[in-house]
Amino acid sequence: MIDDAVHSHSYNPALLERLLLRVSRRWIAGYSTADAINAARSSLNFGLCPILNYLGEENTNEEQITTTVREYTTLLDLLSLNKIQGAVSVKPSQIGLSINYDTCLENILKISERSKKNGVFLWIDMESYRYVENTLSLYLDTFGGNNQVGVVIQSYLKRSYSDLMHLVEKRANVRIVKGAYTEEESIAFHSSQEIDRNFSLLMKFIFENAKSEIIAIATHDSNLIEEAITLNGGSKSKHALQFQMLRGIRDELKKTLVLKKYSVWEYIPYGDAWLPYSIRRIRERKRNIILLARSLIQS
Ligand code: FDA
Repeated sequence: MIDDAVHSHSYNPALLERLLLRVSRRWIAGYSTADAINAARSSLNFGLCPILNYLGEENTNEEQITTTVREYTTLLDLLSLNKIQGAVSVKPSQIGLSINYDTCLENILKISERSKKNGVFLWIDMESYRYVENTLSLYLDTFGGNNQVGVVIQSYLKRSYSDLMHLVEKRANVRIVKGAYTEEESIAFHSSQEIDRNFSLLMKFIFENAKSEIIAIATHDSNLIEEAITLNGGSKSKHALQFQMLRGIRDELKKTLVLKKYSVWEYIPYGDAWLPYSIRRIRERKRNIILLARSLIQS
């Protein structure tokens, strides 16, 4: 529906974009590096650890890719300089994977080197299906030189259980999410029951078998969070369990988990390229679509 609205000629695109931006402000820290650092500080004040993401994806323009890599290296220096215990999260398609593997590898290694130097954890986000295989390879190529790097597994993908088995064998740091892209039924579960069931299976496997330091459970779903707490309590080796949530979503739940002394991380996107990220967030929830529709009618 959102895609239809965005592409529909019955709306004024500039107006629609302004309204989308208004709705999106809750999820996005702002446009500049300074906005990101301020948002990171404010997360810390609430007992949360920030994960900063410079918005952008599917970059094919070399200048844009260079700017993005420079932004991340600056960000890593600033986190360290400001003594902010945080992480960064990078999308491979924003640093060259939409061009070719080698360009992206060269760039992720640059970012990883800087993250290692500054002692800041680096997450590699997982994007749509066509990037999965290369993203896993990129991860393993990077993880070889820096063990403070993690990768993402999406519970809506049918291949994820076997990918997770492979990653666990390599002692990888993994973040489990449901998955945010639109994928074909041949490769992805579509019903929420199947996606949640697979999420549970993935959690059970990782808590029972992981040899890594970190297990990150990235969801706003209270049932899955409760399940993770039970699984972590029952697992033989104690992992550093991280709950990760997005900025502007379920803030009360974040507070409750912090009060219970869990490590809670907040994913904070910033930058100009806010549109695709915001469309994914809006699509995720009926209430957000209603919010946007109400803004449209009011305008
Ligand atoms: P679900 O969508 O079922 O929501 C559970 C509950 O959370 C809802 O009932 C509602 O209360 C609340 N909620 C969820 N979304 C909301 C919203 N937009 N607005 C308001 N309330 C909302 N995906 C991906 O494909 N690759 C990746 O690398 C990442 N990385 C990532 C990092 C972090 C830290 C998080 C939290 C998420 C991601 N994701 C992701 C996104 C993920 O795949 C998924 O799309 C969202 O987390 C929403 O799914 P939930 O697990 O929250 O469940």
